[in-house]
Amino acid sequence: MINFIIRGFGRYAPEKVLTNTDLEKIVDTSDEWITTRTGIKERHVVADDQAASDMAFESAKMALADAGMDASELTHIVCGTFTPDSMIPSCACIVQEKLGISGQACVDVQAACSGFLYALQTARGYLMLEPDAKILVVTSEVISRRVNWEDRTTCVLFGDASGAVILTSGTEEESPRVLDSMLAADGKLGNLLTVHGGGSAYTYKLGEPVGEEFFVQMAGRDVFKHAVRSMSSICNDLLERNGLTTTDVDVLLPHQANYRIIDAVGRKLEIPEEKVFCNIHKYGNTSAASVPLALSEAVESGFIKDGDLVLLTTFGGGFTWGATLVQF
Ligand code: ACO
Repeated sequence: MINFIIRGFGRYAPEKVLTNTDLEKIVDTSDEWITTRTGIKERHVVADDQAASDMAFESAKMALADAGMDASELTHIVCGTFTPDSMIPSCACIVQEKLGISGQACVDVQAACSGFLYALQTARGYLMLEPDAKILVVTSEVISRRVNWEDRTTCVLFGDASGAVILTSGTEEESPRVLDSMLAADGKLGNLLTVHGGGSAYTYKLGEPVGEEFFVQMAGRDVFKHAVRSMSSICNDLLERNGLTTTDVDVLLPHQANYRIIDAVGRKLEIPEEKVFCNIHKYGNTSAASVPLALSEAVESGFIKDGDLVLLTTFGGGFTWGATLVQF
């Protein structure tokens, strides 16, 4: 039996902040609309010379320092992103190069906003096969380059950021320990949230301008409905599988997509608001980066304390969703 121990947490958000008031100058929107419908007040956006790997590099360095580890000790890099620097090489390979190391197995995992829980589960799989592995699980998203800045229904929702953890095996006495995880998807609902452009189903010719399909397109209301239903039901399934109930949960940390979704999931699970971590007002929806970014902040601020049972849950395009239990 392998114990999956998180050795370090890291996060990074770019310096540039875009407030709701700034957005009022770009599209026909208002701070009041964005705040009441989403809870978002501001989001971070990359500088012109930054890509996903640059942010991943920063959060990876923080996680390694937190773990007291040198990059050369890593055996695997698993990167969750739907906005990698390029199709080839993968973001994981570029992060490896930036860390000044080589030889590690490097792979990107694409599960949209569920990217972190999928990447973490991939890392647990590697650890089952290679218990001595030391794995960087890093997520990074540059969504500001994949939203249509003329579409007010999507561009106000997202932000750029990165989050990372270091996962190794350990003893039952060590913590934080990943206890269990469940993942799910339903490809029939894929068309409700898409970024088609750049994919092989679309034919492009050199010099052609890009169209709307290159950017996030979303049926917001449908996403909302499925997000609440899927996250709450997989959380209940995971708790039940572990002989637990929502009253055992000390902290619920959901994907930060929209405050109303976070609130609705908490209510459905009957977990009181004061146990639900939320930082969406500062970052917006940072997709795969949102959970490790929130985790890192929740640990540093003392919102998550030693001994806490923490329930993570995500939902994203695909549709994909998941839940993970971590014992601190
Ligand atoms: N500013 C002002 N008005 C707006 C804006 C805006 N930014 N965006 C939409 N509106 C208008 C609409 O045009 C509409 O106007 P109309 O009534 O005149 O037609 C009105 O506001 C209401 O629009 P709705 O879409 O019905 O608003 P709703 O309350 O559903 O909120 C929202 C929209 C915030 C997008 C919500 O549906 C939502 O949060 N959905 C989930 C989105 C999400 O989290 N996606 C990420 C999922 S995870 C991933 O993998 C990326």
